[in-house]
Amino acid sequence: MTENEPAIRVRGLRKTYGALAAVDGIDLDVHRGETFALLGPNGAGKSTTIEILEGYRTRTSGEVAVLGVDPARGDLDWKARLGIVLQSTAEAAQMTVREQLAHFAHFYPDPRSVDEVIEAVGLTAKAKTRIGKLSGGQRRRVDVALGIIGRPELVFLDEPTTGFDPEARREFWQLIERLKREGTTILLTTHYLDEAARLGDRAGVILGGRLVALGAIDELGGPQARVPIVRWRGRDGLVREQRTGRPAELVASIVAETGGEPAELEVIRPSLEDVYLELVGAAAAADGEASGPPAASATEASAPSGATEASAPSDATEASDIEGVRA
Ligand SMILES: Nc1ncnc2c1ncn2[C@@H]1O[C@H](COP(=O)(O)OP(=O)(O)OP(=O)(O)O)[C@@H](O)[C@H]1O
Ligand SMILES: [Mg+2]
Repeated sequence: MTENEPAIRVRGLRKTYGALAAVDGIDLDVHRGETFALLGPNGAGKSTTIEILEGYRTRTSGEVAVLGVDPARGDLDWKARLGIVLQSTAEAAQMTVREQLAHFAHFYPDPRSVDEVIEAVGLTAKAKTRIGKLSGGQRRRVDVALGIIGRPELVFLDEPTTGFDPEARREFWQLIERLKREGTTILLTTHYLDEAARLGDRAGVILGGRLVALGAIDELGGPQARVPIVRWRGRDGLVREQRTGRPAELVASIVAETGGEPAELEVIRPSLEDVYLELVGAAAAADGEASGPPAASATEASAPSGATEASAPSDATEASDIEGVRA
């Protein structure tokens, strides 16, 4: 593969199980050095997609190239360039953490140091413990360690932090940030949207086997989805909500109007989670109306050229009409 070729290239990918289209026509590029988060509800088709890219599942149709190779024909040299953390794994429970990692390190031409990896996943104190005796979250850390021991160019992480305590999740984030700095390409699935927002450069949302949104993490859903919401309780006792790109201006006008501090004032910037829930909710509603697929084809969130908080497109900066009033 050439320098400019994406690490992962997928065109028209389909995977059917009988009548079910688990993956229903996905087009996707993951660039070299990028961290891409694949999001979507349970059963959306994330693991099916990832496992096809890893060479673990066959596809029904479509084109796939991973590091320039069709995964259906990937040889050992190709596999050695990948790091894989499956959604669920069967561990060699009799081995200790250290033995298991040392065993796997042998399969790779240029593995990382076993002790360094054990430390990076926070298992130094458990290095001599049999894997069967670890807690669920500790076993998951072993999975992550096995995924990176071979110094992979491309890492697949399918819900890597499920079962991690909050501190372990933070440590894992640091580990991923280190891999990113080293230039590793990462394809990640997670149900933790804060994790996706923290680690991801771009994200795609899969619903019913189709990619319904694709773009930079902070542009997903389009500019309108990120416009702040100002919420306050008016003097009439009703809660008001207004979306505006100029929240300070709106707050000033509310203060001028009410002649004092507005009750319960909040300025809310929609998070990735808010945007995601809106996307999934809208697609589910559209699916309810039409009997067709859950949503139209993916739209790459177009980056407004040079857009920043201060210079977002005009439709996003104008204060819109009062959007909601509730008691
Ligand atoms: N081996 C299989 N045989 C039949 N159906 C399958 C098989 N594997 C997956 N499916 C179905 O394909 C769909 C997609 O499953 P997949 O595991 O890819 O979802 P997912 O997005 O990873 O979900 P989760 O977030 O729960 O992990 C589901 O409806 C699932 O039941
Ligand atoms: Mg899955």
